[in-house]
Amino acid sequence: MSMHCSLIFFLLFLTSLCKSDDQLTHAKPLTHSEMLISMSGKFALGFFSPTTSNKSFYLGIWYHGMPEPRTIVWIANRDNPIITLSSAMLTVTNNSDMVLSDSEGQNIWMTARNITAGAAIAHAVLLDSGNFVLRLPDGTGIWQSFDHPTDTILPSMKFLMSYKAQVVQRLVAWKGPDDPSSGDFSCSSDPSSPNLQFFTWNKTQPYCRIGVESGMSVSGGTYVTNTSFILYQTTIYSGDEFYYMFTISGDPAFTRIMLDYTGKLKFLSWNNHSSSWEIISERPAAACDLYASCGPFSYCDFTRIIPACQCLGGFEPVDRTDFSKGCWRKKELKCGKQSHFVALPGMMVPDKFLHLQNRSFDECVAYCSRNCSCMAYAYANLSGVGALGDPSRCLVWSEELTDIKKLLSGENLYLRLTDSQVEKKSRSLKIVLPIVAFLLLLTSIALVLMYKNRAGQWRKKENQKKLVLGYFSTTNELEGENTEFPFVSFEDILSATNCFADSNLIGQGGFGKVYKGTLEGGNVVAVKRLSKGSTQGIIEFKNEVVLIAKLQHKNLVRLLGCCIHEDEKLLIYEYLPNKSLDAFLFDSTQRIVLDWLTRFNIIKGIARGLLYLHQDSRLTIIHRDLKASNILLDIRMTPKISDFGMARIFGADQNQANTTRVVGTYGYMSPEYAMRGAFSVKSDTYSFGVLLLEIVSGLKISSPHLITMFSGLIAYAWKLWADGKAIELVDTSVVASCPLNEVLRCIHVGLLCVQDYANDRPLMSSVMFMLENEAALLPAPKQPVYCALNNRGDGEGSESMDNSLNVMSITTLEGR
Ligand SMILES: *[C@@H]1O[C@H](CO)[C@@H](O)[C@H](O)[C@H]1NC(C)=O
Ligand SMILES: *[C@@H]1O[C@H](CO)[C@@H](O)[C@H](O)[C@H]1NC(C)=O
Ligand SMILES: *[C@@H]1O[C@H](CO)[C@@H](O)[C@H](O)[C@H]1NC(C)=O
Ligand SMILES: *[C@@H]1O[C@H](CO)[C@@H](O)[C@H](O)[C@H]1NC(C)=O
Ligand SMILES: *[C@@H]1O[C@H](CO)[C@@H](O)[C@H](O)[C@H]1NC(C)=O
Ligand SMILES: *[C@@H]1O[C@H](CO)[C@@H](O)[C@H](O)[C@H]1NC(C)=O
Ligand SMILES: *[C@@H]1O[C@H](CO)[C@@H](O)[C@H](O)[C@H]1NC(C)=O
Ligand SMILES: *[C@@H]1O[C@H](CO)[C@@H](O)[C@H](O)[C@H]1NC(C)=O
Ligand SMILES: *[C@@H]1O[C@H](CO)[C@@H](O)[C@H](O)[C@H]1NC(C)=O
Repeated sequence: MSMHCSLIFFLLFLTSLCKSDDQLTHAKPLTHSEMLISMSGKFALGFFSPTTSNKSFYLGIWYHGMPEPRTIVWIANRDNPIITLSSAMLTVTNNSDMVLSDSEGQNIWMTARNITAGAAIAHAVLLDSGNFVLRLPDGTGIWQSFDHPTDTILPSMKFLMSYKAQVVQRLVAWKGPDDPSSGDFSCSSDPSSPNLQFFTWNKTQPYCRIGVESGMSVSGGTYVTNTSFILYQTTIYSGDEFYYMFTISGDPAFTRIMLDYTGKLKFLSWNNHSSSWEIISERPAAACDLYASCGPFSYCDFTRIIPACQCLGGFEPVDRTDFSKGCWRKKELKCGKQSHFVALPGMMVPDKFLHLQNRSFDECVAYCSRNCSCMAYAYANLSGVGALGDPSRCLVWSEELTDIKKLLSGENLYLRLTDSQVEKKSRSLKIVLPIVAFLLLLTSIALVLMYKNRAGQWRKKENQKKLVLGYFSTTNELEGENTEFPFVSFEDILSATNCFADSNLIGQGGFGKVYKGTLEGGNVVAVKRLSKGSTQGIIEFKNEVVLIAKLQHKNLVRLLGCCIHEDEKLLIYEYLPNKSLDAFLFDSTQRIVLDWLTRFNIIKGIARGLLYLHQDSRLTIIHRDLKASNILLDIRMTPKISDFGMARIFGADQNQANTTRVVGTYGYMSPEYAMRGAFSVKSDTYSFGVLLLEIVSGLKISSPHLITMFSGLIAYAWKLWADGKAIELVDTSVVASCPLNEVLRCIHVGLLCVQDYANDRPLMSSVMFMLENEAALLPAPKQPVYCALNNRGDGEGSESMDNSLNVMSITTLEGR
C-alpha cells in the first residue's frame, strides 16, 4: 500500500518535473533557474555559462537531453554577458518585446522589433525546430530567433544570404572554445556579388570561398550520407530575397551547420552510437582550399587523393617550390585572332569576376572574344528559370584568375590561350554542355568531402557500371550479324544535313547536336553528331550501336544506322516530325492538343518503352536521362523514347560526361544518382515519376511559378496529395474532361515513383500494372524529402511572420 502511494507520488513528482513548458508569457517571466523545453523535448532555452568558473552567463538555446557539454545553437546576448545571475530574467513586455535583464535591472538584450505595439500582448514559444518565436495571440509570428542566427544554421531555417543585393545574415564564430562572444571568423555572402558567392572571412579578409552559385531561381542538391538520412539543400531567389536552406529526411537526426572558432564551416550530425558530433563535411577541407593559397592561374585540385595546387593548362609554375606565386603562361598571350578559348571542365570558377547580366551565350562569348583584356568566361544556361528573369549567368574575368578549384563536379571555365597552345582540333568554343552548375553552399562542401572516400567510391562506381554494362563483355555473339546494318558514309551525311547547317539543327543534348537530314532517295532522318571526347574505340562503338539498333519497340525511337569518320561519330535515327513532349506540354498554346486521353496514353507508352528497356530486351538498358525533351511524339502522338543506350554508345569510361550530365537534368535525377552516381532501374523509375507528374500537371519540374510557396513540383504534388486535394494538381486544360479515378491513380503512382529510397520505388512492371488495372491496390507513398521544404502546414512550426522583409514560412521536419 505505502509502496503504491509512493509510486503515485513519484509519478506525480515526475510529471510535474517533466511537464515541459515551451512558452514564455507576459505574466510569467523566465528566471535563471528555469528553462523552456520544446514540445517533444529536442531543444531547451535557458541560462548557461560556457565555463565552470561561472563568471559570465548567457541566454541560449541548446539540444535538450544530450550528454554534456551542451551544444549551444543560439545565444541572445553573446557580446553582453550577465555577470550576476541571481535575479536575471527574460520577460515579455507589455508592448510585445522580449527583454533580458540582469540583477540590477539593466537591459542586457532585447528584441528590437521597432514596431508599434498592438493592443494584444505576445507570448514566445520554443519550437521543436530550435526556433524561438514571439507570437501574437492570433498566432502571427512577429520575431524569431531563426532570423538572428549566431554561429549555427539548423534544418528548415531560412538563412537569408542577401536582400535587395545587400548582405543580410552572417554566421559569426565564437571567439574561443569557451568564449561565445563574436570572434574574428564569419561567414556570409560576398558583398561584391551577394547573389552569387559565399565566403568565410577572417575579419574582413576572405578565408575560404565556399562556392559560386548558378543563378538559378531554385537550385537544389541532395546529398546522401552513409548514415541513415538524406540531406536536401537549396538556394532560392524569391523576389528580393536570396536564401539558403537545408532539410533532412528519414530519421530526423540532429544535424547542423556551424562555423567554429577556428574558422571551419562544418556540417555536423549527431552519432547516436558514439555519442558525439560527426563531421559530414567541412571547409576549408585542405590546405589549398584556403583563399587564393594557390596563386594566380593555378588551382587547388580536389580530384586528387591529396588536394594540391596545379597550373591551368598552358601555364607553368613561377616557382615549383612555392605555388602561392602562381603560374605564368608558357607562351605570351597574343590578342585577337591568334588566340582561342579552351574549356576546362569541373571548375569552381575564379573569384573577382564581372557578372554580365541578361546575355545570351553568344553575347557572352562575343564580349569576351573581342575584348583583349578578357582572360576567361563561364556561362550557365538557366533555361528560363534564372533569377530575376535573367536567362543565363555570364561571368567574365580580366587579368589574373585567382582562387580556382577543380572539383569532382564543377562547371566549364573557358580560358583564353595563344593559338599554338591550343590543339587545333579542340577548338571547343561552341561545345556547351547544357549544364547548370549548382554549387550550393554546402553541396560543394559535400563534393569536396567526397575526395576522402574517392578511391572507395570509384571502385563502387566501377562495380555498378559492370553490373549495368557487364553482359557486354562477351561480344562474340555479334560477329557476322552486323552485315546488314547500314553504315552511312560521311559524305552522304554532309550532303544530307547540308554540312551540318544551323538551319538543320533540331536539337541539342548532353551527348551532342541533332540535325535533320535528307538522305539520297528522299529518306528523312535525324542525325545525332556525338560530341567529341568519347574515348571508346571504333570496334566497341560499332558493336554497341549494332546492339542498340536491335532494340525495337513502338515506344522507342529507331536507330537506323551510324557513321564513323576520323574522330566523328554519328548516329542515324528515324525522323519524327512532331518534336518532343516538352514542346507540347510546356507551351501555352500547344498543350491544348494534349487532352487527358492523349496524356494517359503517353504515360502508358513511356512506361511500356521503359519496361522494354529494363526487362524485356536482351540488354537491360538503364536510360539515365529520361525527361520530357527525350520523349518524341509521332503523328499519332505515340510517345517514343529517344537517347536510350547512350551510356553504352558513348563509351563506358565517360566518367566526366556522366558527372556533368547529372547536374544538367537535376530535377529528374534520383537522389542516389544525383549525388553518388549510383544508378539502377529504380533511378529511371524516379525520372519516370517526375515525368508523369509533369504530364499530369503541365508544370515543369522546379517550375518558377511555384517557388514562392514550394521548392518544386514534387513538394507541391505531395502537399496537395497529403491534403486530399490532388485533383488541384491536374492541368486546368484537361481537368474538366478526365476521369477522376484515373488521374488520381496516376498521381498516386507518380508519388510512389519519386520516393527517396530506391527500394521503396516500384519496378516498371509494377508501374505498368498499377496504371492499367483499376482494381490494383496501391501502397501509400512515403513523403519525399523535397517536401520538407516550405511545407506549409497548420501544425507545429508553421508560422507566417509579419516582419519588414517579407512573408516567410518556417517549417519543421518533425511537424507531423
Ligand atoms: C557552475 O555552473 C554549473 C552548471 O551550471 C554548476 O554545476 C556549478 O555548481 C557552478 N559552479 C559555481 C561555482 O557556481
Ligand atoms: C507598460 O509597462 C510600463 C512599465 O513597465 C508602464 O509604464 C506602461 O504604462 C505600460 N504600458 C501599457 C500600455 O500598459
Ligand atoms: C524604426 O522605424 C522608424 C520608422 O519606421 C525608422 O525611422 C527608424 O530608423 C527605425 N529604427 C531602427 C532602430 O530600426
Ligand atoms: C587571420 O588574420 C590575421 C591577420 O588579420 C592573421 O594573423 C591570422 O593568422 C589569420 N588566421 C588564420 C587562421 O589564418
Ligand atoms: C561513413 O563512411 C566512412 C568511410 O567510409 C566511415 O569511416 C564511417 O564510419 C561511416 N560512418 C557511418 C556512420 O557509417
Ligand atoms: C538513440 O538511440 C536510441 C535507441 O536506438 C533511441 O531511443 C534514442 O532516441 C536515440 N537518440 C537520439 C538522439 O537519436
Ligand atoms: C533583358 O533584355 C530584354 C531585351 O533586351 C529586356 O526586355 C529585359 O528587360 C532585360 N532584363 C533585365 C533583367 O535586364
Ligand atoms: C574590356 O574589358 C575591360 C575589363 O573587363 C573593361 O573595363 C572594358 O570596358 C572592356 N572593353 C570593351 C570595349 O568592352
Ligand atoms: C539554353 O536553354 C534553352 C532552353 O533549354 C535553349 O532553348 C537554348 O538553346 C539554350 N542555349 C544554349 C546556348 O545552349
